[in-house]
Amino acid sequence: MKTLKLLSVCGLCAFALAGANAQTKPDPSIPHLQKKGSATQLIVDGKPYLALAGELRNSTTSSEAYMKPIWPRLTAARLNTVLAAVTWELMEPQEGRFDFSVVDNILNDARASRQRVVLLWFGSWKNGKSTYQPLWVKTNQVRFPLIQNEQGKSLPTLTTLSENNRNADARAYAALMRHLREVDGGRHTVLMMQVENETGVLDTPRDYSPAANQAFNGPVPKELMDFLQARQSQLIPQLYAVWKTNGFKISGTWEQVFGKSTVNVNDWQAYSYFTEEIFMAWNYARYVGYVAAAGKKEYNIPMYMNTWIKQPISGAPGQYPSGGPQPTVMDVWHAGAPAIDIYSPDCHLTNFTDWCAWYTQAGNPLFVPESAGDATGAAHALWIFGRHDGICFSPFGIDGNSGTNTPLSRVYQLVSTMAPLILEHQGDGSMTAVVLDKAGVTSESVRLGNYNIEARSMTRSAGPVTNPPVALFICTGPDDYVIAARGLNIYFTAATEPLDNVALATVEEGVYDNGKWIPGRRLNGDETPEWKAMRFNADNYSIQHVTLFRYH
Ligand code: DGJ
Repeated sequence: MKTLKLLSVCGLCAFALAGANAQTKPDPSIPHLQKKGSATQLIVDGKPYLALAGELRNSTTSSEAYMKPIWPRLTAARLNTVLAAVTWELMEPQEGRFDFSVVDNILNDARASRQRVVLLWFGSWKNGKSTYQPLWVKTNQVRFPLIQNEQGKSLPTLTTLSENNRNADARAYAALMRHLREVDGGRHTVLMMQVENETGVLDTPRDYSPAANQAFNGPVPKELMDFLQARQSQLIPQLYAVWKTNGFKISGTWEQVFGKSTVNVNDWQAYSYFTEEIFMAWNYARYVGYVAAAGKKEYNIPMYMNTWIKQPISGAPGQYPSGGPQPTVMDVWHAGAPAIDIYSPDCHLTNFTDWCAWYTQAGNPLFVPESAGDATGAAHALWIFGRHDGICFSPFGIDGNSGTNTPLSRVYQLVSTMAPLILEHQGDGSMTAVVLDKAGVTSESVRLGNYNIEARSMTRSAGPVTNPPVALFICTGPDDYVIAARGLNIYFTAATEPLDNVALATVEEGVYDNGKWIPGRRLNGDETPEWKAMRFNADNYSIQHVTLFRYH
């Protein structure tokens, strides 16, 4: 029988509180988050910042020589921010002896390339497994125990229910943040931190180790119950529904409060193993929240977590990482990990717009750390900044697919020139966006200011899904709009006066130079179809400024 130093349920509560209390107030002179109306902005050097980013592949930063020729390519591809991994195994090869050369190389080379960075802490977990802990952790499973499945078999995943695991990770992460304060506290090359990578356990719905079984059969911690009670009316619908179905109990075991799970692997929306997933979410949140708080105590810049999102094909928790910050359990994470500022979707697959909407529930700001970098990704980049006041868009594997004249680089170029205008309009209801990325959808209407705006695909076909038409709308006056778009005709109607006819007064195309409008052609005739629509060609992104008038 292994003699493991496992946490009791009370032990868990005690360290979690210590972690939460360890948070310090953000220092306004270093990168921090700030509310602007309904938006949350990332403030860098005193100004709001849009991260036009890309994430490097996992192993890229482990060799400076490998990375050297990549930096200029990223700058040429119009990125202003690079998401780059820092791994526990390379940073602490021997216990307590830190090697920051990977971090220092990233910082030096990023500065030389005029890039900012977001560092990804590959610590205890990466994609639902533990592969980045140093060998002195990996090979000592007595001191650093693993999750067990229902049959008692160990999985290659560190358990959340071990003080040793959590403390070792927190010590290393705190050392990293201390180092960043020392070498970057005055430079602000590092803007944010991702804590761990796609947490949650694979191949089992929950941890069945003895400590986990004891916690699962014990009471739901009071901190979680208090949080749910205080937020009852604002809880995310799926969590609210299971709590309600089970009678809104305010104490009891996990199965008493959230119900005994039913298995339904054929219906991804059924709550098969949902109680197990809630339990795992709480335990991951406590652990990661503690690690993040230890880091913030050293250097308090914003911290987020990314998520391997559940897709229809993924089935039950365990087929995707169980306990990661899915929107359905985001309330549990908010309760358990107050040091985490943002929960993010890794949107590689379908339903991009739905996932973004689900991740903006409960006031969560939108930061997309992984996505596609193709033409569809480019459209989504424009869309998140307009529709959801996004902070960051970042395709994954940018070292392999960056280029100087790609749809993504063109969108990044366009957004960077418009950034002051976009940032000014975030959070006050004067900006939105549409993207026609669903099969069969050829138009979408939105209300903005005094008008309803209909965006119709120029192809009028079944709706392209590989290079979707997209538009970002900014209302700059009562009858005044700036629109950046591709592949659409745009029609205006009066929002509240149905008898008013709306016509185009002036339409100008142009460009922005650091937020200043530089007009180009005056558009009319064939360039404004049916004398009432704005036309944005499918071959490239462009910006137009329109004023409207009404006739009766
Ligand atoms: C998601 C992970 O977060 C990334 O690190 C990477 O492994 C990608 N998947 C690969 O597509």
